[in-house]
Amino acid sequence: MSIRWKLITTYLLLLVVSFFILGTAFNGLLNRHLTRTTQRNLAAEGGNLVPLFTRVLAQDAPLPQVPRLAIALANRVVTGDYIVINRKGEIIAASDRLRYRTGQVLNPPQLQRVLDGRVVSDSFRLGNREVAVVMLPLKRDHRTLGALIMSAPLKDINVVRKELLTLLFRGFVLTGLAALAMALVFSNKLVTPLKRLQQGVARVAERDFSGGISIRTGDELEELAESFNTMARKLKEYDLAQQRILQNMSHDLKTPVAAIKGYAEGIADGVFRGEEAEKGLRVIIRESERLKSMVNGVVELARLENVDEDFSFKKADLGAVVQELAERFRARAAARGIMLNTKIGKKVLAEVDREKLLQALGNMVDNGLRFARSRLEISISEKSGTVHICVDDDGPGITEIEREKVFERFYKGDGGETGLGLAITKAIVQRHGGSVCAGESPLGGARFSVSLPTGR
Ligand SMILES: Nc1ncnc2c1ncn2[C@@H]1O[C@H](COP(=O)(O)OP(=O)(O)O)[C@@H](O)[C@H]1O
Ligand SMILES: [Mg+2]
Repeated sequence: MSIRWKLITTYLLLLVVSFFILGTAFNGLLNRHLTRTTQRNLAAEGGNLVPLFTRVLAQDAPLPQVPRLAIALANRVVTGDYIVINRKGEIIAASDRLRYRTGQVLNPPQLQRVLDGRVVSDSFRLGNREVAVVMLPLKRDHRTLGALIMSAPLKDINVVRKELLTLLFRGFVLTGLAALAMALVFSNKLVTPLKRLQQGVARVAERDFSGGISIRTGDELEELAESFNTMARKLKEYDLAQQRILQNMSHDLKTPVAAIKGYAEGIADGVFRGEEAEKGLRVIIRESERLKSMVNGVVELARLENVDEDFSFKKADLGAVVQELAERFRARAAARGIMLNTKIGKKVLAEVDREKLLQALGNMVDNGLRFARSRLEISISEKSGTVHICVDDDGPGITEIEREKVFERFYKGDGGETGLGLAITKAIVQRHGGSVCAGESPLGGARFSVSLPTGR
């Protein structure tokens, strides 16, 4: 079922239920109100007739000709009847002579109370029909001579009630139509942006990232559309990065293979001889080394990204780790004439896989030694639960645009080798729950830093 139909049926269902509840309550109230009004009018009319019929009963006056009564009820007129009875319940006079004959004995309920001198209002069956009744005592000198029974048929009252209920029902039908129109407008407002969102999702599914969706409803749908746009933008970036990686990778793999093939063929065909052949062989060896380290790097990265790769986290003093790192590279730094410094403050404990972390930091130091002119510094500091390990050099540094890209696999700048070292570093650090970033160094070159949580 579509959202539109769900909305409309909910609206209508709500309306029907409220009509039912309201209708029932209204009907009950109306019934009571109409009966009471009738009885009040009957009592008033009866009050006018009491002196007349008291005189008749006391035999002071002849029986008058009083017509049937008209009782106003909510813009309608209901007929009221009167019956005069004596103490024995015999009918003395009645407005409806066909129904109530003179001399007939009527024994209405509660008659005794009226004969005791009280006014009684009630509804009961009288002469084969249901009536609303007011009974008034006819008294002279503290003696009740008989009773005046004023009645109006409930059937007539019900006609009035039904008319009023029909009015209410019409009102409800009108409200229902208005609600239906509103539900349609409202569901359109809801469904249109949803449709647009759905089209956007379908476009992204087809890898079409052009153009986001604009929804200006000022509600959760707008927020959803904005989140969707952010997602599409990120997917687009990811897509571009993947394309770039593929281009870089195929280029990087093709170049050494082409060199190896060219020299090997040249040597086999006797085009390169003697010294030239020897130079060719050296190129072949160098290029195969490069291929080997690239393949190793790719395999390593794939393993790191596979969650199954075992990391054995142990509590370690990161100061000691940095110290060991420096020792591993000291000889190479000296060979290149680069001064390698360490700055280690107080002890910082963290849960790390020591060998993997050394590999991650080693890739940074390795780069630093390649790019530094004369100085390299490894420092470690801690601030509010995060430890920062920085590798600074005084080389050419990296440009603002490169700062994100250098961590992509196969990305390399001038003087690059495989373009995999920093990607491996990033993968290892992320598995530690940390982050990497590249920036400017106070030494004038590049700064690569790793941030790790000390809590784990
Ligand atoms: N210390 C540094 N100074 C300047 N550029 C750097 C430095 N470290 C890395 N880079 C840049 O980042 C690129 C990627 O580094 P990396 O992933 O280690 O690959 P590789 O070292 O094989 O080139 C390098 O090719 C280089 O352009
Ligand atoms: Mg490297």
